[in-house]
Amino acid sequence: MESVLELDKARTTILKIGGSVITDKNGELAARTEVINRLAEEIQKANMQRLVIVHGGGSFGHPTAQKYGIKEGLREDTQKIGFAETHHVMTVLNGLVMDSLVWHSIPAVSVTPSSCVITENGRIKTFDETVLKRLVDMDFVPVLYGDAVLDEKLGFTVLSGDQLVAYLALKLNVAKIVIGVDTDGLYDADPKTSKNAKLYTRLTLSELEKVKSKLAGSAGVDVTGGMLGKINELIPVIEQGVPVTIVNAAKPNRTYKALIGDKVEGTLLEKE
Ligand code: IPE
Repeated sequence: MESVLELDKARTTILKIGGSVITDKNGELAARTEVINRLAEEIQKANMQRLVIVHGGGSFGHPTAQKYGIKEGLREDTQKIGFAETHHVMTVLNGLVMDSLVWHSIPAVSVTPSSCVITENGRIKTFDETVLKRLVDMDFVPVLYGDAVLDEKLGFTVLSGDQLVAYLALKLNVAKIVIGVDTDGLYDADPKTSKNAKLYTRLTLSELEKVKSKLAGSAGVDVTGGMLGKINELIPVIEQGVPVTIVNAAKPNRTYKALIGDKVEGTLLEKE
């Protein structure tokens, strides 16, 4: 029993922080620095060993990517400045996140997806994770984000943080994934528009497949698929036995509780 616990301790946790949590998705380049700071505090308090953080783009990445049609790929030279701009605004948001993490004494190190990932038709094709793995082994906290990346077929595209989470979960020895969003979890209807929406507290994979079509999309501009896109990315990971907890990271302490494995309001997705 003890050896299993020891093994578990050595396994990695991935935390995804949605762009809708750390930015105002209805604005443009609108960071929620007070939320970023509170999350850094919660992450520090959780004092996790082997943690990887991935954050989204919100009102930094999405509007710029949409303006220039970055996800659809390179069709004309004028889009190149759009690719540069999309990547740049993501580095600005990442800078704010890094600033907060590092000043909360978290040994966070930014790993830039556009410099180490190439996709093919939008799916990760090459990703040299040597440095990332070494960082985790050395108890650093790598921080990645949704980014504009080069693509074998499209020239370039947008890589979502959710695809990165799923990819890393299958590559690293991951114990669990925590997904921080701006709703309390998965609902059978959009909680922002329907007040009778019911929260699912736990769903097995087969239940998840059944209710998938009811899952609400996210508000604001989202070039990478909203909640349904997130779930579709996570299904193969849950299939491998990795539990996923979806919590409202806009509400204090939920991310902290999910990280340390305390009972928390949210939706737990498990294989069975
Ligand atoms: C999007 O990343 C990144 C860009 C648009 C460049 P995500 O898809 O992970 O972002 P959120 O969480 O939906 O905002």
